[in-house]
Amino acid sequence: MTRSVGILGATGAVGQRLIQLLDPHPEFEIAAVTASEDSAGSDYREAAKWRIGTPIPEDVADLEVRQTDPTYIPNDVDLLFSSLPSSVGEAVEPKFAEAGYVLSSNSSNFRTDDDMPLTIPEVNPDHLDLIEVQRDERGWDGAIVKNPNCSTITMVPPLAALDEAFGLDRVDVSTLQAVSGAGYSGVSSMEIIDNAIPHIGGEETKMETESQKLLGSFDGAEVEWHDVDVAASCNRIPTLDGHLENVWADTTEDVTPEAAAEACGSTPLPTSTPRPTS
Ligand SMILES: NC(=O)c1ccc[n+]([C@@H]2O[C@H](COP(=O)([O-])OP(=O)(O)OC[C@H]3O[C@@H](n4cnc5c(N)ncnc54)[C@H](OP(=O)(O)O)[C@@H]3O)[C@@H](O)[C@H]2O)c1
Repeated sequence: MTRSVGILGATGAVGQRLIQLLDPHPEFEIAAVTASEDSAGSDYREAAKWRIGTPIPEDVADLEVRQTDPTYIPNDVDLLFSSLPSSVGEAVEPKFAEAGYVLSSNSSNFRTDDDMPLTIPEVNPDHLDLIEVQRDERGWDGAIVKNPNCSTITMVPPLAALDEAFGLDRVDVSTLQAVSGAGYSGVSSMEIIDNAIPHIGGEETKMETESQKLLGSFDGAEVEWHDVDVAASCNRIPTLDGHLENVWADTTEDVTPEAAAEACGSTPLPTSTPRPTS
């Protein structure tokens, strides 16, 4: 049986990726797509500046883009994926939760709020029980669940494995992040071509706080954040997709590269061969 779902902010960089991944999924049928008032009323194929390598799925291309408002969502849809700009998400996501929708949201608003589940399913699925706390506190029939920031989401699974095996005291991370992470109109070409930008507004704080929350423990009422010190330095580089990050982790117990790799379910990289000196 398939479940009808909707995507808020479906014409953007994240919305397009959600469409590419959800369309072939056997359990989901994309029944509604929303965007800004400028796009509402157009067919999806006209409204989206599609930049994914695979074609727009035919059934989605013909959908009419709806206004981002609960009254425009078809009755059989109760699960929504949100990829709105955070300022828009902050204003409209609560309206959807109040109207009974469950939102899985990529937008950065509310991620560190006390009653907001921020989850990576492989790391902290138990934090989803915060939904009941959220419903009690906000009086919602629906709920909002957040995905972490795109750099944090790849860093935390191995950190969680290291923490479980050896304890974690401190993390330093330096990133090289692709332009797609800023969204379709996020970085101007004049700034990024032939350049590297050694700052991404707000990104360092997101990595430092979200990782502490994700690695924290949930006691049934609240999440106690992990006390690991995290220091991030985030850089934008002129690649299209994919972020690279160098992470240094100080563990509580001594650890060898082999033991660290085993804890992460991986194998250690071969030691590099020293360059010949002339
Ligand atoms: N890009 C990434 O890799 C990434 C990763 C993780 C999380 N995020 C987060 O995901 C969210 C979306 O990012 P993005 O990169 O996809 O942004 P984007 O490319 O700028 O897309 C924004 C989407 O929101 C819609 N929108 C804009 N203003 C609106 C309004 N007032 N009312 C309703 N819809 C509106 C846009 O519709 P129109 O086309 O009609 O303007 C578009 O569909 C952000 O909160 C971002 O922080 C992004």
